Amino acid sequence: MIPIARPLTGPEEQAAVAKVLASGLLAQGEQVAAFEKRFAALHQVREAVAVTSGTAALHLALLAHGIGAGDEVITTPFSFAATGNTILLVGATPVFVDIEPDTYNIDPVKVEAAITPRTKAIMPVHLYGNPADMTRLAQLGQAHNLALIEDACQAHAAAVGGKPVGSFGAGAFSFYPTKNMTTGEGGMVTTNDSAIAEQVRLWRSHGQKQRYEHVALGYNQRMTDLQAAIGLAQIEKLAGFTEQRIANAAYLTEHLSGVVQTPVVRPGHRHVYHQYTIRIPRERDAFASALNARGIGTGIHYPRPIHQQPLYQQLGFDVKLPVAEAAAREVISLPVHPALSDDDLATIAREVRALCQ
Ligand SMILES: Cc1ncc(COP(=O)(O)O)c(C=O)c1O
Repeated sequence: MIPIARPLTGPEEQAAVAKVLASGLLAQGEQVAAFEKRFAALHQVREAVAVTSGTAALHLALLAHGIGAGDEVITTPFSFAATGNTILLVGATPVFVDIEPDTYNIDPVKVEAAITPRTKAIMPVHLYGNPADMTRLAQLGQAHNLALIEDACQAHAAAVGGKPVGSFGAGAFSFYPTKNMTTGEGGMVTTNDSAIAEQVRLWRSHGQKQRYEHVALGYNQRMTDLQAAIGLAQIEKLAGFTEQRIANAAYLTEHLSGVVQTPVVRPGHRHVYHQYTIRIPRERDAFASALNARGIGTGIHYPRPIHQQPLYQQLGFDVKLPVAEAAAREVISLPVHPALSDDDLATIAREVRALCQ
């Protein structure tokens, strides 16, 4: 089976972890500080704060912006549940607006129409590693004095006009093993605003300004040096991983365009292909089973939009978002990860074409 994802780690990660183990300093320390510095430089931001997951990064970014009860955050329904859930966790209301039919990212025209006096932030997701329309979203944010909290969990080193995602507002990244780089589990908040970074640091570690001086409420959402050591080894490989993902996607697009709807990338946008997602308008699930039977792993990202999840139905979200709902029925992701061989890519293209004829 050609898997839909495979984390790529090797002797570098093993040596880095062994070194931390031998040091006896296993919790948050120098490795975390070095990883934060390296990640901030890569995304051209002043500050990066490492946390336990992408979910924690979104959660703490929202808290650091002072978002809570009575506030609205405009976001996309076509994402992993964490996007909506973290807004609920801080006591705010997610306002789901529909997506663009070709990029599957939040539609800026619909964002503008959804702004109310209670709106505090826009939370776009760079879905599949394809940047959302940050030029227009940043303009809207400025015009209406709204925070931009970018869910960049799938989009390490993606960019718009050469400007990395996560640097337009605050960014939240995930290092879950299927992501473009991993620390096992982990996350990062990026920002150019030192006050926001400081707040995230307080929320991350029980509001401690210094050891045993608690100036605010907080959690324990600290990354460990074991994870950061893996992250430091992975970040050195990220450029190579990303180039390989982009090359794999180019191959698939060359062989599949005209056969299926292939990914759409806006001019000037750098798509880093966390997923390579095509559209099968009829009988998508049968298509997935047939590909699986031919030895090709697939993923459905996502089969149910967030507003239609049982939790959100119980909470009374009864909005209709037809573009996202159609996408949920029709999208399917093919393997695009850097561990694919030339043979794997040829097999994927051949089998998809065969099934579409
Ligand atoms: C778009 C999106 N947002 C948030 C998350 C949450 O990240 P994590 O699994 O690291 O908590 C993920 C990861 O699956 C994601 O894909």
